[in-house]
Amino acid sequence: MRIAAAAIPPILLGMKTLDFRSDTVTRPSPGMRQAIAQAEVGDDVFSDDPTVNRLEERLANLFGVEAALFVPSGTMGNQICIKVHTQPGEEMLCDRECHVVNYEVGGPVQHAGVMVNLLTTERGMLTPEMVTANLRPKSLHSVQTTLVTVENTHNRHGGAVLPHSEVIRLGHTCHELGLRYHLDGARIWNAHAASGVPLAELIAPFDSASVCFSKGLGAPVGSAILASRSFIDTARRERKLFGGGLRQAGLLAAAVEYALEHNLSRLQQDHENARRLANGLSNLSWFELDPTTVETNIVIVRVGQRSPTEVVARLAEAGVLVVPFGTDKIRLVTHLDLSAADCEEALKRIATVLSRAA
Ligand SMILES: Cc1ncc(COP(=O)(O)O)c(C=O)c1O
Repeated sequence: MRIAAAAIPPILLGMKTLDFRSDTVTRPSPGMRQAIAQAEVGDDVFSDDPTVNRLEERLANLFGVEAALFVPSGTMGNQICIKVHTQPGEEMLCDRECHVVNYEVGGPVQHAGVMVNLLTTERGMLTPEMVTANLRPKSLHSVQTTLVTVENTHNRHGGAVLPHSEVIRLGHTCHELGLRYHLDGARIWNAHAASGVPLAELIAPFDSASVCFSKGLGAPVGSAILASRSFIDTARRERKLFGGGLRQAGLLAAAVEYALEHNLSRLQQDHENARRLANGLSNLSWFELDPTTVETNIVIVRVGQRSPTEVVARLAEAGVLVVPFGTDKIRLVTHLDLSAADCEEALKRIATVLSRAA
């Protein structure tokens, strides 16, 4: 993207916009576009698309589950899972900052008719003790708690990686209590890259997981649900009901296959770039952050006395795009379209624009 001429100081004209708004802003590379163009396709609603079928089988093997289902988005993946796990009038426990409640348009209540109990956690990780303490009594008066959802890595907790031993411990508790356990694994790839824990182990404690290809992996579209065969059979029906039955979806699946082959192994670079940014930003007086909390590709920065909208606007003047995050923070996300040099350049531009504004 080039910056619109009217919006920028003359020195920036023609310079690359550095887009840190999200890891979803990446564009398919020429190689990925070629893979899309060459994809063999069929009608996936008839389960006839060979590329989708091959991708689903590959994902099931990669994650060590019985089956996988390709879905258009992470939101649809999560919301289908919540619906399949619950009955209307039941309750889900999750972290107060989780994506499934904060950014999915009230999906749990709209689609599944479930109540949510939002718990305050340390960096996104619910504990067995919290779940036990918040379980509703089996009484005439109470909604019944049936589902626990966690998110790994955790977006609003700054890309935090859930401690794997805690994920396992919570899984034991959920299953002892007869609760289902869902993972929003939109960025499970980053958790894997940061922790070194194999993908299959990361999702083994869960009854279902949804993972996204359109974030750090750089595919243009697509997510998947990973679960048992019977869960996936029900999820397939729900996908149709959600309007997510796609026809020649092999075009999208081919991009995902390409992303798995070429972009999974490079995620550490995004993490290094995020740390580079965090270190640089922590030296600028407008910002407050502890760079040691940056574990993956998300950097959340407190903006002190300034409003996030003002800071976002100032940075945009320097051709650096970021998003406001709550009432006192901004968020920057690194991804495959931003190199280490781009991050250094962003830090230089930010320092210049802030010194002019000081
Ligand atoms: C943690 C998390 N879960 C789920 C989603 C939803 O993905 P999608 O935008 O594909 O619906 C996102 C999107 O950013 C996310 O960050």
